Amino acid sequence: MYASTPDDWHGINRARWDERVPIHAAGDFYGLDAFLAGQDALRDFELAEVGDVTGRTLLHLQCHIGVDTLSWARHGAAHVVGLDFSEPAVETARGLAASLGLGPDRAAFVAADVYDAAQAVPDSAYDIVYTGLGALNWLPDIGRWAETVASLVAPGGFLYLAEFHPLTDCFDDETGSTVTYDYFSRDAWVEESPGTYADLDAVTVHNRSVEWQHPVGEVVSALAAAGLRIEFLHEHDASLFPRYPALERHKDGYYRFPADRPRIPMMYSVKASRPVGG
Ligand SMILES: C[S@@+](CC[C@H](N)C(=O)[O-])C[C@H]1O[C@@H](n2cnc3c(N)ncnc32)[C@H](O)[C@@H]1O
Repeated sequence: MYASTPDDWHGINRARWDERVPIHAAGDFYGLDAFLAGQDALRDFELAEVGDVTGRTLLHLQCHIGVDTLSWARHGAAHVVGLDFSEPAVETARGLAASLGLGPDRAAFVAADVYDAAQAVPDSAYDIVYTGLGALNWLPDIGRWAETVASLVAPGGFLYLAEFHPLTDCFDDETGSTVTYDYFSRDAWVEESPGTYADLDAVTVHNRSVEWQHPVGEVVSALAAAGLRIEFLHEHDASLFPRYPALERHKDGYYRFPADRPRIPMMYSVKASRPVGG
């Protein structure tokens, strides 16, 4: 339900994430055995939109257990840094990096709040700042996020954000067809939900979450206001998970509405660059 932001929102969310890390590390959703054996964690549209990362430095904000971060290293990034406020997530990511034989010079992970990233990460700027897919909804202030991100993009570099489209949170969960929630609400969404998207039946005790929705226009405008140049904003007609029961899984692994239903955007991606000399 919509509510005013609880004072301890940060601790509430961290406790929730800390508890879910071992569940994610052990379960099928992140499939760590397959990942360590070489399976790519990145989505095809991200690889196409980010392009060649060979030799580039990459910072992944809200990296969770690091599988996406480390995948960029396997795609040739010279140095990747993952940041997450969950210590267990960062520890898990460090363990995965070690298992892959990637030392801290190739893959480093730091535990810090995303708003403190500029002070927490080892370098002052990166060729690519990458984030998303369930990241922005945990942050109360998108302007402050954009300023943080922009300060970390090196001249000639860019931010790449792939995120679930906030429009999907406006429709009723059962049919995905009735506008039920306010797209422009600024209130926190406070919920008690056991388990996790990676294991709906997992037994958990830290079940509270405090989240916020950020209209796409506000995200893009905040990046522009922070000094980045918007290269593209793509909207995607598919989701990574069955957001509504009516969605059908396609051969490519994405979930879409049946062909006889009008489509809505379910994910979006943004590339925003810092000009050389900018
Ligand atoms: C859904 S996950 C990120 C998704 C990522 N694409 C993945 O699936 O691996 C969200 C992450 O954000 C982190 N997080 C939430 N709030 C944060 C904050 N204020 N600062 C840093 N990390 C935060 C959580 O610990 C969690 O690992």
